[in-house]
Amino acid sequence: MHRFGPLLALLGLAASAHASAVDTAAALTDCLTKAGVPVDASGSADYMLDATPFNLRLNYTPVAVAAVTTVKHIQDAVTCAKQLGVKANAKCGGHSYASFGLGGEDGHLIIEMTRMNKVVLDNATGIATAEGGTRLGHLAYELYNQGKRAISHGTCPGVGVGGHVLHGGYGVSSHTHGLALDWLVGATVVLANSTIVNCSGTENADLFWALRGAGGSMGIVTEFRFKTFEVPEKLTYFVATVQWPTEARALMGMGAVQEFAKTMPAELNMRLFIARRFINLEGLFYGDKEGLQAVLQPLMKQTNATLALAQTGGWLDQVKHFGGSSNIDQGHGHEEHETFYSTSMYTNALTDAQLQTFVSYWFKQAKNNTRDWYVQVDLHGGENSAVSMPDAASTSYAHRDYLLMYLLYDRVDKGIYPADGHVYMDNFVGNVTQGMARPDWGMYINYPDSRLGQEEAQVNYWGGHLAKLQAVKKAVDPGNVFHYPQGILPA
Ligand SMILES: Cc1cc2nc3c(=O)[nH]c(=O)nc-3n(C[C@H](O)[C@H](O)[C@H](O)COP(=O)(O)OP(=O)(O)OC[C@H]3O[C@@H](n4cnc5c(N)ncnc54)[C@H](O)[C@@H]3O)c2cc1C
Ligand SMILES: *[C@@H]1O[C@H](CO)[C@@H](O)[C@H](O)[C@H]1NC(C)=O
Ligand SMILES: *[C@@H]1O[C@H](CO)[C@@H](O)[C@H](O)[C@H]1NC(C)=O
Ligand SMILES: *[C@@H]1O[C@H](CO)[C@@H](O)[C@H](O)[C@H]1NC(C)=O
Ligand SMILES: *[C@@H]1O[C@H](CO)[C@@H](O)[C@H](O)[C@H]1NC(C)=O
Ligand SMILES: *[C@@H]1O[C@H](CO)[C@@H](O)[C@H](O)[C@H]1NC(C)=O
Ligand SMILES: *[C@@H]1O[C@H](CO)[C@@H](O)[C@H](O)[C@H]1NC(C)=O
Repeated sequence: MHRFGPLLALLGLAASAHASAVDTAAALTDCLTKAGVPVDASGSADYMLDATPFNLRLNYTPVAVAAVTTVKHIQDAVTCAKQLGVKANAKCGGHSYASFGLGGEDGHLIIEMTRMNKVVLDNATGIATAEGGTRLGHLAYELYNQGKRAISHGTCPGVGVGGHVLHGGYGVSSHTHGLALDWLVGATVVLANSTIVNCSGTENADLFWALRGAGGSMGIVTEFRFKTFEVPEKLTYFVATVQWPTEARALMGMGAVQEFAKTMPAELNMRLFIARRFINLEGLFYGDKEGLQAVLQPLMKQTNATLALAQTGGWLDQVKHFGGSSNIDQGHGHEEHETFYSTSMYTNALTDAQLQTFVSYWFKQAKNNTRDWYVQVDLHGGENSAVSMPDAASTSYAHRDYLLMYLLYDRVDKGIYPADGHVYMDNFVGNVTQGMARPDWGMYINYPDSRLGQEEAQVNYWGGHLAKLQAVKKAVDPGNVFHYPQGILPA
């Protein structure tokens, strides 16, 4: 340190900022260590596992990583962060597309939760408790093995229950059984002042409302309590390939898909997957192959689709299929990374002109993109969707009524994602939503767009629920300890 003295003096402000960052890191580590909170040594194998995000494009450097194993560790870590003016964030699965588990920028304290992942099902009540660091695959595996039960959730077994449930959680059971957050009945939370509170529909109800849509901004959930459903005996997962060689065919095809989405039966869960080289209709049917064929037949005709796979199996068979892995029981060390840019949108059924814009952008612009990109269009809402049935105000998830949810994802297989790569997907969203009034479209915080500023992000993700969320934030975290660049700001 000493021999850099003159250099530091020369560099003036920048150097003193650097020196104070170093001091903060040392003081924070000291505070954590004195409190008995385990800290990952920088550069250790645990540090590499805990601090490497899913999206390698956004690889932020934390000021420290607290490898917590008890609720007391979490409370003490929050106290240390608050004392030193450091922002703190829980990291569960680390699968946020914008690396929000790492704080979404450099210099945060990461409270790494995945060593706390116990799941216990009460067979008598069907209520399950899951610790705050549980991954989806482990939850599915345990609920099934302890009592043949489940909740509705997304597809990737490495995704954390923390990020997923607290911000939505849409998957191949959602049209039938709703969002992951619809299965949450209570939670235990460490607040910004390190106190522990429970919340549910009847206890701290505003906090419980805010957790179900914007939880990462409100506190650190140490335990989730879920109601569960009994898994069906037979489900059929399927892939239908679609040939739309021309814009005219794609226009007719997409029109048919969105018409079908409006009234498709609750038992069917489906998405349109548009990749650079192929197009699929794929999903999960609650029933057998004959039942699926009967339901899909009219759409197959209209869209020129061919059923390439229709496999009937049990609950874990479909979890493994959609998870892309036979090893779904994922715990602390889980290595899975991609390098990509993503963004999202929700819309209602597109008008003819909007459909034309979508297809024209797809064929004339998006197809020039030679990277490995896709646009996934989830048939999210509609008359029979369990997502759209609850009152829109019942949770802070702001997008129940939209028919369609789109994930736009653009990745490189290796190397660095180009600095201007984002224009393809940004222009896709820009063209389709051009001229739409604000409530006619939104964005999904679990498919975040890392380039949005905080004001715009809050409006896009939380729409009409923003004012109430900001009021709850002010009540539970007025100093914004749990800050991240697209989180809720206190009122
Ligand atoms: C391969 C893959 C597949 C996916 N598939 C789907 C899908 O099918 N459907 C879908 O809806 N989404 C899907 N997602 C998106 C996923 O739901 C989000 O990225 C989710 O936020 C990830 O949660 P996490 O805990 O893994 O992430 P993290 O990066 O650890 O956390 C994300 C956010 O949640 C906060 N958080 C985490 N744990 C807690 C906690 N215990 N208490 C308070 N705050 C917490 C973090 O601070 C951060 O703000 C997928 C993502 C990936 C990478
Ligand atoms: C719970 O119920 C399932 C069957 O529904 C049974 O297989 C399992 O052993 C039970 N578990 C416990 C802990 O009682
Ligand atoms: C929260 O609820 C759990 C489960 O009902 C209970 O064990 C715990 O003591 C409660 N904690 C507080 C702080 O109320
Ligand atoms: C329907 O798909 C087949 C390939 O399966 C293709 O040859 C044909 O051109 C398509 N028809 C239309 C009208 O797009
Ligand atoms: C894509 O290619 C078309 C010609 O096929 C061209 O008109 C268009 O400008 C290109 N778009 C981009 C973003 O390169
Ligand atoms: C629509 O896409 C074109 C071509 O990529 C782009 O130049 C234009 O800015 C986009 N429009 C909007 C509103 O995003
Ligand atoms: C901690 O914060 C909560 C929410 O703001 C508040 O109700 C509680 O009184 C605070 N506890 C202490 C000890 O300050």
